[in-house]
Amino acid sequence: MTDLAQALAALEATAQADLASASDAATLEAVRVRWFGRKGSLATILRGLGEMDAAERPAAGKLANEVKRRLEVALEERQAALVALAQAAALTAARLDVTLPGQPVTIGRLHPSTQVLRRICQIWATMGFQIYRSRDVESDEMNFELLNIPAHHPARDMWDTFYTTTEGVLLRTHTSPGQIRAMREFHPEPIRVVLPGMCYRYEQITARSEIQFHQVEGLAVGRNITMTDLKGTLISFAHRMFGAERKVRFRASYFPFTEPSAEMDVECLICGGSGCSICKQSGWLEILGCGMVHPRVLQNGGYDPDVYSGFAFGMGPERITMLLHRIDDIRYFWANDLRFLEQF
Ligand code: DAH
Repeated sequence: MTDLAQALAALEATAQADLASASDAATLEAVRVRWFGRKGSLATILRGLGEMDAAERPAAGKLANEVKRRLEVALEERQAALVALAQAAALTAARLDVTLPGQPVTIGRLHPSTQVLRRICQIWATMGFQIYRSRDVESDEMNFELLNIPAHHPARDMWDTFYTTTEGVLLRTHTSPGQIRAMREFHPEPIRVVLPGMCYRYEQITARSEIQFHQVEGLAVGRNITMTDLKGTLISFAHRMFGAERKVRFRASYFPFTEPSAEMDVECLICGGSGCSICKQSGWLEILGCGMVHPRVLQNGGYDPDVYSGFAFGMGPERITMLLHRIDDIRYFWANDLRFLEQF
């Protein structure tokens, strides 16, 4: 019994020393296996109990279990201590300065021409015009023929076209082909639509012209629509868009798909009418083309020109955006320069 007691005391002392000196998880695990494992010293002693006298066994067992229990507690404490040490070391290694400013969140915004496009459509919506979406890739027939612009007609010079490799398929040069599509869809109902969309032209890029740009086309078809309706409606639009005092003028013009045709100018907002490079010193900025829908175009849309009449217009939101924000070069719109875009 005393032999056993001595052996246990020696074992406990050495085991405690081992535990105390284990300075990382791997060493501690090796210590655990050495003392507590199935082949460890403690197990060997406990197995030896079976061979003792029955009279001595309970006291010896109690002693051995007490030692085992104390060592188990010591092991757990050491494990916890090592975890705490590792955490503390990790925290010091990756010190976090909570007073540093955070990453600024970049808030997206709508492109300036999208903003103006939406405003234009909203104004037309309040005037009873619904949005009609047409396609960017068009047929030669829709983009030209049915709009009274036959092949070889000199008026085709007005639109330098991007053709595709497929015969008769092109990128629309204006939103006007949507007029035919709308008429064919709405016939025989009266029509009041605006068609917003991107247009494409094979052009020299300058401060005033780009190869891609938006247009908002408008179309009204009914039984008694006159030039007076056209003028009144467009003046009303201009006043809502640019302010009620804004001066507006109509000039006679020519488009193959309208007769008569006109263009509407708004007083130049950049120079206030005194003349600058944007308005080519005229004091006026052309913002749209318009006219009474040509009888042949009405017919192509399915409407009998003896019964129906209509007006149409097409305007460029980028030009209007330039007016509103005093932008002097159209090339800023698609250059994707954040210094420009972030101002809106
Ligand atoms: N499609 C013309 C262009 O791109 C603009 C235009 C003029 C549209 C007169 C119309 C219109 O609907 O009536 O230059």
